[in-house]
Amino acid sequence: MKKLLYLIAVAAIAASVMAVNNAAKARPTLTNIHADASSTSKPFMPIKRCMNMSSMEAPNEGDWYNYKIRKKDIKNVAEAGFDTIRMPVRVSHHTAPNAPYKISDTLLNRMDEVVNWGLEYDLQVIVDVHHYVELNENADLHEPRLEAIWDQLARHYAAAPSNLIFELINEPFGDMTVKRTDALNSRLLKRVRQDNPDRWVIIGSAEWGTLNGLIKSTPPNDPKIISTFHYYSPFKYTHQGAEWTPKPMPMGEKWGTQKDKDTITKEFKKAKRWADKQGNPLLLGEFGVIKNLSNYERARWTRHVRETAEANQMGWCYWDMMGGFKVWDRDEERWIPPVLYALIPNL
Ligand code: BGC
Repeated sequence: MKKLLYLIAVAAIAASVMAVNNAAKARPTLTNIHADASSTSKPFMPIKRCMNMSSMEAPNEGDWYNYKIRKKDIKNVAEAGFDTIRMPVRVSHHTAPNAPYKISDTLLNRMDEVVNWGLEYDLQVIVDVHHYVELNENADLHEPRLEAIWDQLARHYAAAPSNLIFELINEPFGDMTVKRTDALNSRLLKRVRQDNPDRWVIIGSAEWGTLNGLIKSTPPNDPKIISTFHYYSPFKYTHQGAEWTPKPMPMGEKWGTQKDKDTITKEFKKAKRWADKQGNPLLLGEFGVIKNLSNYERARWTRHVRETAEANQMGWCYWDMMGGFKVWDRDEERWIPPVLYALIPNL
């Protein structure tokens, strides 16, 4: 009887800490959905085709591009053949300025909602701490706050299924040098591992998360990390007409000669060589072309980058579904065919 009471108590506690219990109950855990036991290509990479769902990168969801993620968006992503969504969230904007740096319950509830939708549609979900701008401006002040943010997220999602994935910092720059980012990544990972010993964790580097930053970095030694970089080169092609870049980005830049293609091929080979040396799988966590170009031009670059990533055994996440680099037309409520097919040709 005592044992039974004990088991009931343990079960009750476990249930109460399950932040995403509904989804966990509704679906079996999709651990390693892409595991291919017969494959000789190492190391194993759980993410193949992923879509960035960017609405929570804005200070408040909906502030930019005037949209919020809906359940049917997640369904559309799953039905198109993606296996993962990346959820960039500006958590720092919803976190108290002073210790213990509490994250707002409203934000956590909304994150849980989207996470649960993803899990419900059998997707892997990446929780990405995005746009912590102040960290790059004053790292001394903000590193302890980011540590507290990850302590809370790690506890909050400790009982979530294994297809929930963490991404510790997005595109550090400024104060966050490569060396400093390496050290912070190690500290954050150690803390996250206390509650999540076996969860996949995505780790990038400084210099805005570029390949240049990544290959200078030394990731922590851990069997469940994925290295990541972002690729938007040539920047003046992919960002032409962008309004948020420090320098204006004139329109009219062209891309697509053999030489242009070869440059990308060479860079991705370099990325692969670096990742193989580390022994980590590699994720191209963001790539895409701004909506200001024709969809055919956007598709041409996107296809080449996606194919080159796959040829080097990288998983990839397109930036993004419905924002400035969109592949979904919100007015028409449908995919933009050439760009979608550049990502998933065999739809
Ligand atoms: C930023 C977005 C931006 C995109 C392309 C992302 O890392 O968060 O705001 O649109 O890169 O520049």
